[in-house]
Amino acid sequence: MKSDSVILSGKGVAKIFGFGAHKTVAVDHVDFSFRAGEVISIVGESGSGKTTLAKMLLGLQTPTAGEIYFEGHLRDIRSHRQKREYWKNIQAIFQDPFSAYNIFRRIDAVLLDCIRMRGGGRLPYEQKVEMMREACRFVNLKFDELTNKYPFELSGGQQQRLMIARIFLLKPKILLADEPTSMIDACSRATILDMLMALRTEIGMTPIFITHDIGLAYYVSDSVYIMERGKFVESGSADSVILTPREAYTRRLLNDVPKLHEEWDLSTV
Ligand SMILES: Nc1ncnc2c1ncn2[C@@H]1O[C@H](COP(=O)(O)OP(=O)(O)OP(=O)(O)O)[C@@H](O)[C@H]1O
Ligand SMILES: [Mg+2]
Repeated sequence: MKSDSVILSGKGVAKIFGFGAHKTVAVDHVDFSFRAGEVISIVGESGSGKTTLAKMLLGLQTPTAGEIYFEGHLRDIRSHRQKREYWKNIQAIFQDPFSAYNIFRRIDAVLLDCIRMRGGGRLPYEQKVEMMREACRFVNLKFDELTNKYPFELSGGQQQRLMIARIFLLKPKILLADEPTSMIDACSRATILDMLMALRTEIGMTPIFITHDIGLAYYVSDSVYIMERGKFVESGSADSVILTPREAYTRRLLNDVPKLHEEWDLSTV
């Protein structure tokens, strides 16, 4: 599903927190160009600025400097209406599934919101239920057992899957996945990854994985960006960056993954 059209790009994008002696340059004037249909990974150690960049890409934080382009046009999301339109195109799943939900809304309400966001608010109720059933089936959840529950009544794994069911209904062009798998056991991790990759084919979205795990990046991505202290120190195809790294920092990240050069078997990840 490769394509040459650039879906999301940035020039000199920076985020600086605080002032003077308390200044933190979380993202230090980065350039990037993500192509539609590619799987992209942003890899870096803790505190390198990955989540801050993700929040700027989502429009949850305003860059201190630089420009972000969506489908070739300078992104303008100053008004709420513009933000809502933008969020039809780009969605995220975060480290902590709890933070994604309003705990006072039942699960069917959470899913109905997604249908409404996609313009399906006036569809007949039976059709909405069928759409919610389909989304739940896709992630191996049983809609009929969930309708009257609240997100906090689900297990961690079920919450993660519910997040993916939301994405199934929202059908964004870009999905940012900020360590979606780090908090769960190896088996669920493989399942979630499989679901995200299946969803990529199903709705034709461009996934951006944000991770410490350069092994995961190698396994899933076409393009890799290596982030160190707010900067992209190296980027390119997954093969070129990971099999022939130029930077000592990249090699250091690789040292944490002893088995990288062997064939990856997701069942044992
Ligand atoms: N709201 C904020 N105010 C001040 N500093 C912040 C804020 N958010 C992030 N930072 C700082 O910016 C830097 C980058 O943080 P960020 O959360 O983007 O890192 P990360 O790469 O996502 O790390 P991790 O892998 O641990 O999630 C850190 O030094 C952090 O302390
Ligand atoms: Mg983070």
